[in-house]
Amino acid sequence: MSTIALPPSPKAGSGDGVTPFKVTGIVNYDRLIEQFGTEPLTPELLDKFARITKREPHHLMRRGIFFSHRQLNEFLDAYEKGHPVFLYTGRGPTSDSLHLGHILPIEFTAYLQSVFDCIVVFQMADDEKYYFNDGTDGKKELSFEEITRCGRENTKDIIACGFNSKKTFMFSNREYSLGCREYQLFALETMRIIPEKKIRAIFGELNTVGQMMCPFYQAIAAFSRSYPHLFGDKLAYCLVPYAIDQDPYFRLARDIAPRMYPCSSEKIDLDPTRKRKMGLLKPHSIICKFLPPLTGFAGKASSTGANKDSTIFMSDTPSVIAKKIKKYAFSGGGGDGSMADHVKYGGNIETDMPFQYLRHFLRDDVKLEEISKSFANGEMTCGQIKEILVQVITELVTEHQKRRSLVTDEIIAEVYSTK
Ligand code: TRP
Repeated sequence: MSTIALPPSPKAGSGDGVTPFKVTGIVNYDRLIEQFGTEPLTPELLDKFARITKREPHHLMRRGIFFSHRQLNEFLDAYEKGHPVFLYTGRGPTSDSLHLGHILPIEFTAYLQSVFDCIVVFQMADDEKYYFNDGTDGKKELSFEEITRCGRENTKDIIACGFNSKKTFMFSNREYSLGCREYQLFALETMRIIPEKKIRAIFGELNTVGQMMCPFYQAIAAFSRSYPHLFGDKLAYCLVPYAIDQDPYFRLARDIAPRMYPCSSEKIDLDPTRKRKMGLLKPHSIICKFLPPLTGFAGKASSTGANKDSTIFMSDTPSVIAKKIKKYAFSGGGGDGSMADHVKYGGNIETDMPFQYLRHFLRDDVKLEEISKSFANGEMTCGQIKEILVQVITELVTEHQKRRSLVTDEIIAEVYSTK
C-alpha cells in the first residue's frame, strides 16, 4: 500500500468549530475523532477491505482523506457472509451546481457501489434546506420551489458521478415522506421515543420545530425499514459515507436502532402473527475530512460565505478554473517566496494548496509521488505545480460536464421511481 502524501497535520486549535451547520477555523481531526467517538481508519482495516472486496482501496482512503469510521469492520464481515447491504448518502440542495468538495463523498459512494455491487439510496434533503434557509441567522430565505429546482440540477451532477441507475434510489425527502406511509410512520415512531433534550444536546439550539424534525429523517433513512419497495421487511446492513460534520445524525441513528421495530407498529398491531422483536441494525459509517478552500486550511470549500469566490464548481469553464487557481491557491514555496529561496529550501507540500488538491484529485500515485518529491526539493516551482493542478481539475470538470450532459429525463425518472 502506498504511503505517499500522508494527511497534513496543520496546527489546529484556533477557533475550530464543527457542527452540521458550520465549519470554521483549522479543523483538528484527531480531536474530532475523540470528541465524536468515531474510530480511525487504520492500514489494517484498509488491508481487510482490500482482502474482502478484492479491490484496491480508493485513493481517498489510501491518502487518509477518508480517515475515520464507525464499525466498518462489522459491515465488511456482514458483506463477506453474504448478508444484504446497501449504501446511503445525501445532499441538501441550495446551489445550482455542486462544487469539488461535494463531489468527493458522492463519487466515493459511486465507487463503493461498484465495489459492493449494491443498492444506493440518496436523500435529497430538500425539506432540511427549506427549514434552515428561512431568512433567519443571516441565511437567505429560499422558497421550496427554488430548492426543488436546485435539487433537480444537483441530481444531474450526482448521477454524473457514476452511479448505476438500475441500483440507485434518489428521493426528495418532502415527497417521499408524504408519499410513503411506512417512511412517515417510521419518522413519527422515532419522534415518540427521542427526548427533545437529546436533539438539543447533539444539534444545539434550533429555531423552529421544522428544523428539529430534520435530524429524524436524515437518521431513519439509514435503515432498510425506510424502503419497503426495496427491502420489504428484510433487514439490510447500511454503510454511510459522509463528511465528519454529518456525524451527529448518525450517532442519533445508532441510538435509535435498538429501540425500534423492524416494521411499523401499525403492521404489528394489525397482524398478531408478527413478533414484537425490537432492534434494527445500527448503520455503519465511513467518514471523510473536508476539502479545504484553495486559500489555505481554515474552514472548508463552500458555495456560500467567505470561501465562495475561490470554490471551484462543476459548472466552471476552463478559463474560470485557471483563474481561480492562479488567483486564490495558497502556495507553499520555500523561504521568502523568491525563486532563489524556493530552490534553496524546497517547497512545503503540507501547506501548498495546489499539492493538497492534487492529493484529492490526482488518482495516479506515481505521478503524485514525483510531483511531491520535485516540489519538496525545489525543482518544481509554485507556478508549475499550479499549472498541473489547472490541467487535472480542468480535465476532471470537463469530463464531469460531458457525463452530466448525457443524463436524460428518463434516467432521472428511473432513479426517483419507487417501482
Ligand atoms: N444534511 C446534508 C447536507 O446538509 C444532506 C444529507 C442528507 C446527507 N442525508 C445525508 C449527507 C446522508 C450525508 C449522508 O448537505
